[in-house]
Amino acid sequence: MHFLPESIDNYAVEHSQKEPAILKELTRETWQKVLNPRMLSGAFQGRVLSMISKLIQPKRILEIGTYTGYSALCLAEGLRNDGLLLTIDKNEELEELQTKYFEKSEYKDQIKQYVGNAIEIIPQIEERFDMVFIDADKSNYLNYFELIIGKMNSGGIILSDNVLWSGKVVEELNPKDTDTKVLLEYNRLLNEDNRLETVLLPIRDGLTISRVK
Ligand SMILES: C[S@@+](CC[C@H](N)C(=O)[O-])C[C@H]1O[C@@H](n2cnc3c(N)ncnc32)[C@H](O)[C@@H]1O
Repeated sequence: MHFLPESIDNYAVEHSQKEPAILKELTRETWQKVLNPRMLSGAFQGRVLSMISKLIQPKRILEIGTYTGYSALCLAEGLRNDGLLLTIDKNEELEELQTKYFEKSEYKDQIKQYVGNAIEIIPQIEERFDMVFIDADKSNYLNYFELIIGKMNSGGIILSDNVLWSGKVVEELNPKDTDTKVLLEYNRLLNEDNRLETVLLPIRDGLTISRVK
């Protein structure tokens, strides 16, 4: 969904860094072979993720929701030389494609894949993080937050995707719509939690940056 007029969206894309060739190739293959290719972060958001990561220069990144690996490769661009990105996805059918592109990339030794339910995997990871990207099932966003907040380093960044949920967060709530209900609660929590400083950016489907104090 475009929240800005398409001409403004296009202008922003035209005046931003271009997508690296490997990500174009991954996008093409995802659209050819994988269900729901719209789940990809996409060129513009990918450059935003890359830029944020380069500004933070994280040593440890956790990604919840790898899909075909697009956003993982964008975030990895900012890793320190000794840094590591850990990425989790429950869909085992995606692992082969993820591995293909991670291996092709210059970050092949800096990405660790986990296949399984993030709710079960995160408690088993004994790391502290400088950056976390939450981009999996919306109904678990609050649970993901509770699982990661104690693992964040001071000054660390939590990025949350799809927080505007195609605009549903400002429409009348359908009581059966659990995802929107959770996202409303999640957005409120990120804004009110004293441990965080938060800005919700209305780019693409909404991307929140929360800095842990
Ligand atoms: C929107 S896609 C991620 C897109 C990816 N971050 C990108 O920008 O290219 C969401 C992914 O979360 C995964 N997912 C959903 N629920 C999950 C869970 N409980 N544990 C781990 N992965 C999950 C799905 O299999 C899907 O691949």
